[in-house]
Amino acid sequence: MICQAVAMVTAASDAPVELRTARPDDLDGIAELLAARGEPADGVDLRLVAGDPDEGLGSVFVAAVGPRVVATATLLSETVRVGTASLPAGQVELVATDPEFEGRGLVRALMGLAHDRSRARGDLLQVMIGIPYFYRQFGYVYAMPIPLTRSVVAGADLGPASDGLSVRAATAADIPAMHELQTRAQSSVDVSMPHSPGCWRWLTARDGSVQWVVETPDGRAVATARALPPDEGLVLGEVAGEPDGVRALLRHARELTDDVAVMERPGTPEGAVLDALLDPVDDIDAARHWHYVRIERVAPVLEALRPVLGRRWLDAGGSDREPHEMLISSYRSHVRFRLDASGMGDVREGGPLQAPVSAGGSGVPPDVLGPLLVGPHGAVGLERRHGDVLLGRQRDLMAALFPPSTSDLLTFYLPI
Ligand SMILES: CC(C)(COP(=O)(O)OP(=O)(O)OC[C@H]1O[C@@H](n2cnc3c(N)ncnc32)[C@H](O)[C@@H]1OP(=O)(O)O)[C@@H](O)C(=O)NCCC(=O)NCCS
Repeated sequence: MICQAVAMVTAASDAPVELRTARPDDLDGIAELLAARGEPADGVDLRLVAGDPDEGLGSVFVAAVGPRVVATATLLSETVRVGTASLPAGQVELVATDPEFEGRGLVRALMGLAHDRSRARGDLLQVMIGIPYFYRQFGYVYAMPIPLTRSVVAGADLGPASDGLSVRAATAADIPAMHELQTRAQSSVDVSMPHSPGCWRWLTARDGSVQWVVETPDGRAVATARALPPDEGLVLGEVAGEPDGVRALLRHARELTDDVAVMERPGTPEGAVLDALLDPVDDIDAARHWHYVRIERVAPVLEALRPVLGRRWLDAGGSDREPHEMLISSYRSHVRFRLDASGMGDVREGGPLQAPVSAGGSGVPPDVLGPLLVGPHGAVGLERRHGDVLLGRQRDLMAALFPPSTSDLLTFYLPI
């Protein structure tokens, strides 16, 4: 736990507001606030996180006036995989302020506490799903596209009901099999985030969504998905598994209701199976939502990515090329590292550097670093989109080190 009474601010009502990690006697108040400002299930979710051995009350932050909780935010532990590198990350969730206390900077302050904790435990970045624009005020940028949710096409071939596969709700005993199916699905994308062990426990215990598994007659799990209750049509997300299993999931959903939509899974084998069963997307540039990413310091992230970036350089013929001193400036600060026959060297950080191109380097502003490292456009696509991304004479190397990335993130809340 990093803080007790972290700070006091004065709300407009002049009541002193205490900012701190949550205590057991806050739980009812936090759950009530979340349920009132979000979904009833949010209160259940909060208790699952607060009671979890991997997270606990130390992950939950509150603003309180005496015994009354007036704002809250929770930091979850995540791992973002980029190629072969695993980056520790944080995800802020379950954010809400009592309407009487809105607009007084309480969530800004709680985000600060969450980011302090995230940094202190060694996270290299933060990811988020959140309301539009709001989190950009705290250093987040839109970096990875959220897959579209598409209806099942009329007359889709969902396989014969006689294939012997059955679908049932998962229990905690199914977690290893579901995790394995998801790991296989994610192995084909460049950037992925699995469910943490804690998150798997909450997903099989919560009532906001249901985990499904598809089994063969001898009890082998061949597919899984997550279903949102069919209040306004049933939504399936995180579909993973063998093609017959994927079709059995959709068939089962269709048996429950005609109104079934499925989150696509681009870049995975499952995505290819789903693509043929879901309504076509006419416009590939269709408006979509994005995962937020926040990178406070790029040097440690690049350091963690050394094996991946070194491999990309060597795959681009690096061992036959002259060694190169890379310079990437975010204008407010810059990094340098060496590329040679052995791969990528240490990342060194420096201060402001305004004209990287004339120094032989590249310019990438701070708010484009996230999209550069994990986004779908790659360095060259970002140069076309942003006036202050300037790749200079290093363009071919920037293109090789930072190609467009496919991504697939599993999050506590389905981002639909
Ligand atoms: C959105 C919400 C969390 C904001 O909480 P808050 O305590 O009022 O936020 P803050 O006062 O800390 O706001 C921080 C900044 O964002 C601004 N802001 C407040 N609400 C905003 C919104 N909806 N969109 C954009 N900016 C907003 C504030 O003016 C403030 O700007 P400043 O620091 O430059 O003065 C709160 O309105 C809420 O609980 N809404 C319902 C639940 C919800 O949407 N939760 C978020 C789910 S991701």
